[in-house]
Amino acid sequence: MPTSNPDQITLLRPDDWHLHLRDAQAMAAVVGASAAQFARAIVMPNLRPPVTTLAQALAYRERILAALPEGSDFTPLMTLYLTDNTTAAEIRAAWESGMVQAVKLYPAGATTNSDAGVTDPRKVAAVLETMQALGMPLLVHGEVTDPEVDVFDREQVFIDRVMIPMRRDFPGLRIVFEHITTEEAAQYVRDAHEGVGATITAHHLLYNRNAIFTGGLRPHWYCLPVLKRERHRSALLQAATGGNPRFFLGTDSAPHARRLKEHAAGCAGCYTAPHALELYAAAFEMAGALDRLEGFASLHGPAFYRLPVNRGTVTLRREAWRIPDALPFPGDAIVPLAAGETIAWRLIG
Ligand code: DOR
Ligand code: ZN
Repeated sequence: MPTSNPDQITLLRPDDWHLHLRDAQAMAAVVGASAAQFARAIVMPNLRPPVTTLAQALAYRERILAALPEGSDFTPLMTLYLTDNTTAAEIRAAWESGMVQAVKLYPAGATTNSDAGVTDPRKVAAVLETMQALGMPLLVHGEVTDPEVDVFDREQVFIDRVMIPMRRDFPGLRIVFEHITTEEAAQYVRDAHEGVGATITAHHLLYNRNAIFTGGLRPHWYCLPVLKRERHRSALLQAATGGNPRFFLGTDSAPHARRLKEHAAGCAGCYTAPHALELYAAAFEMAGALDRLEGFASLHGPAFYRLPVNRGTVTLRREAWRIPDALPFPGDAIVPLAAGETIAWRLIG
């Protein structure tokens, strides 16, 4: 349980239920940051080419383990990238391996490396049927890609066009609505039948869409789904801090080199892995709910995924420190979210 000292919080070791680690040298530059904060992470499969088979997931897992700094205690939980051509047999083999915890559904074209994603959920009905029978979670990037739909409305429209029909057709399918960004999605998850959860990022708890435009166009605040207006941020903060076990921590830390963010067509993604818990602590403190951080960060995710809670603890201390302007990244640098700003909490071990 969190300690009662107002300047220190101790939590059971938390997990990151939504993380991008990339591959090769980029992965080597970022994986240590997540291992310093979290015991486990659900690793997203949107590599190029995507991780679509059990063999690819196992090989990727080995590369992650090999890239970890000496002495790390970090378990990558693997996912498969769902395509129109994924077979039910592949999914079953992945689940039975015990190494693949979930399948990720990207609507084709919704975000970074999603071109091979699902063009129509009806095409993957056999796979969803199998997952429903196995109890294997489907992780959903919940945005429609219809160019006629305003970019700020794509999540709400996804609920009506995809989530509701999918839940109707597969009522027993376990679903994580990933990185929710709207009041409507929070409400949907709260009111859904059993088996639906959601991850929430630190940046969607701390910032509204003004952050993208404050004093000029600020690409390091650009991610997908994009930050929304204040009423949504405030609803997400309420959802995350309200103690409901359907909501759990997923950073969506998504590293891109500085030159690809500060670009005419900048990449989507906020790099939050190095200071993720500090950002979440700031958000929970803002809501007067630091005592609920442990549930959100360390308990609700394992309960949804039916995995044991971690042993051991981490401690955050109230200590103002400055987020670095940039960190090392192959051939370039990487700019963490809120670079140069002061943050009130620090992970001390
Ligand atoms: O902002 C994002 N970045 N959203 C995603 O869905 C993908 C991610 C990435 O891989 O860069
Ligand atoms: Zn993501």
